[in-house]
Amino acid sequence: MLSYLRIITLLIIVPTVMSCQSPSEELPSSAIESKIDSLIRLMTIEEKVNMIHASSAFTGGGVERLGIPELITSDGPHGVRHEHGRDWAKDENVYDSSTYLPTGTALAATWNTELGYKFGTVLGSEANFRGKDIILGPGFNIIRSPLNGRNFEYLTEDPYLNSRLVVGYIKGVQEHDVAACAKHYIANTYEYEREYVDVKMDERTMREIYLPAYISAVQEGEVLAVMAAYNKFNGTYCAHSKYLLDDILKGELGFEGLVMSDWNAVKGTEAAYVGMDLEMGTDLAIGTEDYGKFHMGDTVVGLVEEGKLDESILDDKVRRILRVMFQINKFGDRKKGQYNTPEHQRTAREIANESITLLKNQDVLPLKKELNKLAVIGGNATWKHAGAGGSSQVKAYYEITPLEGIENTLAESTEIVFSPGYGIGKNGQATDEMIAEAVANVSSADAAIYIGGWVRGYTDEWDDNVFDAENVDKPDMFLPFGQDKLINAILKANPNTIIVIMGGGPTDMRAWESNAKGIVQAWYPGMEGGNAIAAVLFGDVNPSGKLPMTFPAKLEDSPAHSISSYPNENLLIDHKEGIFVGYRHFDTREIEPMFPFGHGLSYTSFEYSDLAISRNEGQVTVSLQVSNTGSVQGGEVVQLYVKDMESSLERPEQELKEFSKLFIEPGASVMVEFKLDSSAFKYFKEGEGWILEPGDFEIRVGSSSRDIRLKEILTL
Ligand code: GLC
Repeated sequence: MLSYLRIITLLIIVPTVMSCQSPSEELPSSAIESKIDSLIRLMTIEEKVNMIHASSAFTGGGVERLGIPELITSDGPHGVRHEHGRDWAKDENVYDSSTYLPTGTALAATWNTELGYKFGTVLGSEANFRGKDIILGPGFNIIRSPLNGRNFEYLTEDPYLNSRLVVGYIKGVQEHDVAACAKHYIANTYEYEREYVDVKMDERTMREIYLPAYISAVQEGEVLAVMAAYNKFNGTYCAHSKYLLDDILKGELGFEGLVMSDWNAVKGTEAAYVGMDLEMGTDLAIGTEDYGKFHMGDTVVGLVEEGKLDESILDDKVRRILRVMFQINKFGDRKKGQYNTPEHQRTAREIANESITLLKNQDVLPLKKELNKLAVIGGNATWKHAGAGGSSQVKAYYEITPLEGIENTLAESTEIVFSPGYGIGKNGQATDEMIAEAVANVSSADAAIYIGGWVRGYTDEWDDNVFDAENVDKPDMFLPFGQDKLINAILKANPNTIIVIMGGGPTDMRAWESNAKGIVQAWYPGMEGGNAIAAVLFGDVNPSGKLPMTFPAKLEDSPAHSISSYPNENLLIDHKEGIFVGYRHFDTREIEPMFPFGHGLSYTSFEYSDLAISRNEGQVTVSLQVSNTGSVQGGEVVQLYVKDMESSLERPEQELKEFSKLFIEPGASVMVEFKLDSSAFKYFKEGEGWILEPGDFEIRVGSSSRDIRLKEILTL
């Protein structure tokens, strides 16, 4: 029974607290904090505890008595997932088909931070329209192993590219009164036994490779939510880690938003004592809908009442959740999102266009459109990916397949013959009959395009998952469904066949790469992907994508598999490679990749000249001229790497420290200028922090990590 005083307070304070704020009158943080203070003062312990754990599959608890609604979350990182009911049952007959954006590695392959922002604006606007408070993205775990089932959702192997791309994405989302959620914190870089593996790494590796993108997400992107990963980190669950959540994230980085767990990632009430603010998941409530059973549920009420858990710790969790609610104007007249607009689809297309990466071109691309007969081979030419792959699935408003894109591009007069060549699914194979049909079609055509690669698995009937998907990793880097044999057969029939590979990461191409003259990496390019692939193949778009991760020739060359243990049967994933992830390993150990980090060709050519380096106090300015020496407009990603010529601790051969994507008209030149501060030259030394050792540094600028065009020594 509420005391008389409480009722009066409610009548006075709650309306005041919940008074509408229009986005234009953004409340100063002091006003928000005092409103939060008022609410917390009114809450019972039970009500506070109700706020810090899930109340259904995708919601966090509210306090109805005080007018505090539930917090509503939704996947995923490249499109707003379909409606789940409160218990995972798909809501039928609801308007929940969304804009399906290119997935993470496709966005990263654009190397275009402005597109990162545009990506975020689409995602934020659609999440807002669908009534979501938090969209569960961006996911930006470092791409450490080529086999990680979720590489397609993430961005890159390089911490600097990672850091630059997440900022725009987060700002784009949060401009629509929706919180972005940086995930999965930290080092969840494989799916193998993800809820139980223990990641071991030293502090230098964490700070130089895995933490930078979180620093920029928090301090530049001002991300409002962070999701703690399933795995352990140096022996402690991420969701239970004082070091990760309090010391680093909330302490050192100054994160003021909320930390949620991955679903069911909280494994005990000890999480309540550290910076875990919101326990998500449903395992503990399945069938009972009693979310009080959560580790951070009823038990916490008792701990606080018995003085075993200081109420101030509980209050801080509630404060952070309420702070996010205020910052997305949940109590105010929120901005209005849009959904499935032509503009959103144009953005999806723009990103797809710039993501397509031309890996090899021996004068076979672009193809002429004037063809009598075109053979299109490969199950991926007609396969749709959006709805699979796990939590990042999207019920796409539409998804243009590569075959449809090609049909949209060519005149009616061109005869297009299609052969799948291989079956996709549990026992999908390139049978002899399918290969024979494909070879016959290729042999009788003027040109041939192969669309193959990986698919986003898994659907229920596929238990032997060899695809890009959550919860499992690939067994190897070889294309599934017997594609290598098929590719060689059609290349023998027509050596000019263009090979297009879709997928989230590297493929072992050794079986056929030397026979192919044209190879294109198409990633998972979203709902407009088919049109973008066709536009690049037929020259309507000049490819400008660059690899955001190394494509090893073979898996054994990858540091995660040659130096380290992956996966390790005793659930220990020891990152023995340390900072030597990706090209840092290949370049330092002088291992030839199939295609290097930062690689991507164009239909035009670029010349680099006039490199000039100057210093002014703590800043180094690097300028150069880039000219388009070809005949068509093109996009070039100018990459700047730094090599420390001599250091007391071993450092990588080179490290990406700046980049810029430029579109240059044929015959034109552009002056590029980079400003480097001391951080571009430092490395982390345990016990001493970030160190700048005076001496010589080589500044390298180029079109990829292995295509350095100009370099000069700078002495600091
Ligand atoms: C999943 C994923 C996470 C997702 C969440 C909700 O297990 O790891 O990325 O956002 O649960 O579906």
